[in-house]
Amino acid sequence: MTQNLDLTDIQGNIVKAYGSFGFFKARYLFLRVDNGDKGRDFVARITSKVTSAERWNKNSAPSVTTNIAFTFSGLRALELPTASLIGFPSDFVMGMSKRKDILGDDGPSDPEHWDKIWQESVHIWISINGKSVEDVEERYQWVSQQIDASGGVALLKGHRGEDAFGNPSDDLPYQDASILYEEDGITPSSKEHFGYTDGIGDPVFEGQTNNEKRVIGRGKLTREGGWVPLATGEFILGHIDEAMEYPKTAPRPDLLSNNATYMVYRKLHQNVGTFNKFLDEQSKVFPGGKELLAAKFSGRWRDNGAPLVHTPDEASKAEWDKKFAAADVPTQKKMLTDFTYNEDIEGAKCPVSAHMRRINPRGSLEYGVKDAFNTPGALVDRRRILRRGLPYGKAKDQTSDDGNHGIIFMVLNADIKRQFEFVQQQWINYANDFKQGNDKDVLLGNHGAKCPGKVVFEVEPGSGKPPHFVNNIPRLVETRGGDYFFIPSITALKMIAGGIIDPT
Ligand code: HEM
Repeated sequence: MTQNLDLTDIQGNIVKAYGSFGFFKARYLFLRVDNGDKGRDFVARITSKVTSAERWNKNSAPSVTTNIAFTFSGLRALELPTASLIGFPSDFVMGMSKRKDILGDDGPSDPEHWDKIWQESVHIWISINGKSVEDVEERYQWVSQQIDASGGVALLKGHRGEDAFGNPSDDLPYQDASILYEEDGITPSSKEHFGYTDGIGDPVFEGQTNNEKRVIGRGKLTREGGWVPLATGEFILGHIDEAMEYPKTAPRPDLLSNNATYMVYRKLHQNVGTFNKFLDEQSKVFPGGKELLAAKFSGRWRDNGAPLVHTPDEASKAEWDKKFAAADVPTQKKMLTDFTYNEDIEGAKCPVSAHMRRINPRGSLEYGVKDAFNTPGALVDRRRILRRGLPYGKAKDQTSDDGNHGIIFMVLNADIKRQFEFVQQQWINYANDFKQGNDKDVLLGNHGAKCPGKVVFEVEPGSGKPPHFVNNIPRLVETRGGDYFFIPSITALKMIAGGIIDPT
């Protein structure tokens, strides 16, 4: 089945991860609507520059993008009809902070510790992604002018961190984000603050790309062992999903929800000092060395992202590295993504609690279950999420957790409860589906000070070796803020701006 999407109607960030198109800098703005009429005027102004998902070539790619989304309270402040508002799902209506028990946002991640902007009522999110800081700054100035001209919205302050020019504050009027750079400070890197290569795995859905190679390891598994794109409705409303239904999270009328999606915005602080100390300590008792241990936490080696299932020890990694270095780019991408966990069901190569395996177990949950499912990944195909984030800040002192550095994590999905929240609650913070009791995702779990985490690294069956236990896992990642947003189509933006949504 191939599907033609109306790419001119869909916001660009849904279809494209801007970071992989060379947009290395971003600024996120959050606004409050104080007046419905004037707020709609502001939406109209921004809509004129919203970036669609139209395909780019060398000449048509812009140097800066702009996208917009709304919280439930934002849509209410913009005076959407009640008959439309009641069609939104309860998770979105409640917003992220009220879902803290489901998300495991406890202890240092509790909303009471979030950046102070999240104590405000946030209504609108605007993202500016640029190829340079100057591009972002120029578009930011334009947005600021529209704020002033409309007179009905306020830019909210209260982000902790540094802006793109290195100015620190706990009251910034925006959140800046950027890829990290190699030590020379100029070579772009795909690393995040714990030193892992990131941004490799991201789902591919029907209509997103004509490039069949991109589907390998990123679409859904077929019975024959191949890969095909996921159903569009897993990520965009108004399209058939993996259950062959239209997503049930769509508000009325269809024109408001078609080609829209939901976004989870989460500011995740990384405890770099604690991570480094923990890795050093644990590697003293792990028979395999520090880098293999780090790989076991994530599922990929830190230096180049080699998947552990194909490189379970240093010897196989060295072989893989040689082939990788000699391969062309499409082959390299295939080497990074084309795998399942079916040859490693016990987790002897890639532990079941490795971050990547927890979040996308590929076909392994159904492995060995005869005839119960149509496809080998039927369970995970309903839990996939698009990642659209970037790192923020600099970890200046590798021995300390202090400062402001982490990932601005943005997930897009058609159903926040079924997709993001399920993954966060059941696969990151519990392990019933993996038959691992309460063991959490090593990197992301909400390991507590009172009850530090533990996970088990299995060994090859029949090897005669004991499994390896990793104990006393501290909290490595903390939530510093966030909310749930609705990203409308460009048609719907015009309807919202015009105040002409007829829900009948
Ligand atoms: C500071 C926080 C985080 C860090 C440092 C981190 C790090 C990583 C790394 C190193 C990878 C492997 C590279 C890749 O496959 O792209 C990865 C993959 C992934 N992560 Fe995270 N991550 C973080 C938060 C999250 C959260 C909160 C979620 C979801 C709730 C998530 C979802 C994913 C997904 C879906 C993949 C791809 C898995 C696959 O398709 O095989 N990550 N992450």
